Amino acid sequence: MANIIDGKKISFEIKDEVKLQATELEKKGIQPCLAVILVGNDPASAVYVRNKKKACEYCNIKSLSYELEESTTEEELLELIDKLNNDKNCNGILVQLPLPSHIDENKVLLKILPEKDVDGFHPYNVGLLSIGKAVLKSCTPAGCIELLKRSGVEIEGKNCVVVGRSNIVGKPVGMLLTAENGTVTTCHSRTKNMVDFCRNADILVAAIGKPKYITGDMIKEGAVVIDVGINRGEDGKLCGDVDFESAEKKASFITPVPGGVGPMTIAMLMKNCVAACKSQNGL
Ligand code: GUN
Repeated sequence: MANIIDGKKISFEIKDEVKLQATELEKKGIQPCLAVILVGNDPASAVYVRNKKKACEYCNIKSLSYELEESTTEEELLELIDKLNNDKNCNGILVQLPLPSHIDENKVLLKILPEKDVDGFHPYNVGLLSIGKAVLKSCTPAGCIELLKRSGVEIEGKNCVVVGRSNIVGKPVGMLLTAENGTVTTCHSRTKNMVDFCRNADILVAAIGKPKYITGDMIKEGAVVIDVGINRGEDGKLCGDVDFESAEKKASFITPVPGGVGPMTIAMLMKNCVAACKSQNGL
């Protein structure tokens, strides 16, 4: 039976460290500040945004909340970002995705000043990540690495297989694993013999967006399994990209869904806010 990696517990360890740093900054008369922008009425996004604001409160980070109508134009959103870019008291800007279809997501992400891009989505920050120099790393991938490190899992020299090649998880998590000296293979929907790659993985990261896609028979005995997926299963319950029941019989460590990678994304966002604030204040 696998050790279950408790993402909720580890996320609180990180938030407590962030809170300590925010308290230190307060002594210097500085309070980190995050602007959270939500456009439209997507219920899942509303929950994420609420949780981000709650985490800010926990960490002693000020949050500015912008809840905009679905009908907001691209120009209006870009204007708001411009205003926040120029606001010295605002250290981080987060635009919750997805945006309504009439707004060009790429244009919006490019508008955010890289030093305020606490999501780590700006191509400048993605570029820094690829050369191992990022200050603001994208949150979910950085959260995966923290889970491994804080569970005592060594990455160096390991066969790391990432299933999924999205810009926000698959690609950056591969770059971070490479930076930790893992040997990384990225699999995706066009990969031939996916099962063979997976069975060879010492560390398997599932970020493909298909419920329970990775089953126990695809996992090497003793492998470490990180499940980034958040899906609704046929039974209506939340589930990951990994079939937990069969996978935990093979894995040495595994993240559950919920309570694995999920809480880490917000914890890493908080960490980025404080890092952005420090860097903008020359600290
Ligand atoms: N939508 C789903 N995940 C994320 C995230 O990490 N950041 C933002 N901004 N939007 C998201």
